[in-house]
Amino acid sequence: MSDISLASSHASRNAAEPARAGWGSRAGFVLAAAGSAVGLGAVWKFPYVVGKHGGGAFLLVYLASVFTLGLALLLAEMTIGRLTGRSATTAFRMLGGRAWAWAGRISALNAFLILAFYCVVGGWTIAYLLRSITGEALVADTARLHSQFNTFIADPWEALAFAGLFLVATAVVVIGGVQKGIERAGKILMPALFVLMLMVIARSLTLPGAMDGVAYFLMPDFAQLSGESLLQALGLAFFSLSLGAGIIIAYGSYLPKDAPLVSSCVWVGSMATLACLLAGLMVLPAVFAFGLPPDAGPGLTFIAMPAIFAQMPFGHAVAIAFFLLLLFAALTSSVSLLEPVVAFLIDEYAWPRRRAVVVVAIATFVAGIPAALSFGAWKDVEVFGRSLFDIMDYTAMNIGMPLGGLFVAALVSWRIWPQARTVLGGMRARWLVPTWRGMCLVLTPIAVLAIWYQNL
Ligand code: TRP
Repeated sequence: MSDISLASSHASRNAAEPARAGWGSRAGFVLAAAGSAVGLGAVWKFPYVVGKHGGGAFLLVYLASVFTLGLALLLAEMTIGRLTGRSATTAFRMLGGRAWAWAGRISALNAFLILAFYCVVGGWTIAYLLRSITGEALVADTARLHSQFNTFIADPWEALAFAGLFLVATAVVVIGGVQKGIERAGKILMPALFVLMLMVIARSLTLPGAMDGVAYFLMPDFAQLSGESLLQALGLAFFSLSLGAGIIIAYGSYLPKDAPLVSSCVWVGSMATLACLLAGLMVLPAVFAFGLPPDAGPGLTFIAMPAIFAQMPFGHAVAIAFFLLLLFAALTSSVSLLEPVVAFLIDEYAWPRRRAVVVVAIATFVAGIPAALSFGAWKDVEVFGRSLFDIMDYTAMNIGMPLGGLFVAALVSWRIWPQARTVLGGMRARWLVPTWRGMCLVLTPIAVLAIWYQNL
């Protein structure tokens, strides 16, 4: 695999001479996109949302969503990036005209909103890494882990400090290190995360009672499925593929003109799904073995994982490695969330990169305060019956990302279809052309309207 870099993309974006460098290789692009996709969504969000929505049947809907609409929109975002070689707002304007620039602004806003609560959970991973190092987190008693977790997330200063730390790390990478560091490290750390998950799965599956969790996760019980869970699965598919926030547009803009897009999509989609599957197999069997309620909510992974580590050989080392890799996976995702907002300010207002990063990071921190405090000091503050953290998560998942996806689908399948379809030019599978268009033009609007209808 050759060197992977985003080198000098930013300089070239606002400068007149378009010396825009690309990815060193297609694998570089796939890994960067997968680095964005695989993160807390898979390891933290996926297991608890599956647990909330009844297991196997939800998993099936999730998989179906990824491999239909998910891939179609992934391909659409890549197409926009490749046709323009620009990040979202500029790209939308170039292809659609001035009014379409709003679609790009909205997607940048989505990224901002997601990062504002993502950094809170990112902060938890830092805290759990430190607690693994000290050994404090390695407790076998899940009741105690539960109360430890709740005490920890309720502490306003800790929550803010760790979220801030996570944002600083993200900002440092985006200011300087995206080019070489993250991409190169991703080549090693991403596979390492997968290997480590397999090791933890081996322990999780051999816990007494674990098979109930496996059955829960893999055997669909369609009675558990409600209209709401269908749409949640779709939203989770979007989230786990990093759609609707302009990220794949930006990453796709660095692709060489002759790179095969469809297979890249399938790769990214498969890696994201694999990560979710492994995370489910890691967390849910342990949840059942330890008698935790599967619908315990956002703390599920953070409570079940340490309990496994406390009961496995070399658990202390595995715990440290696990939270380190999880932190890394979270950072490759948060970097991808910060970058489009920064790119927006650079492209549209010609801000210097460093200033853009600092300002956006501070603004994100401020916007994230309600999310950070919503487990403790502001626990009782509710908007429409949801905590502040939930309302941000909910707004992004149910309003922002579907809207972003709708714009992408409309641009590609309607506004610029003759141009867009050329990216499938050399494909032998002719059925892909109408299928892709149908998903973007017909299915996406139906799905998005259903999501909104359900939420009203
Ligand atoms: N996909 C990432 C995860 O699963 C989170 C993420 C990164 C994201 N970039 C995104 C979600 C853009 C939505 C849109 O952790």
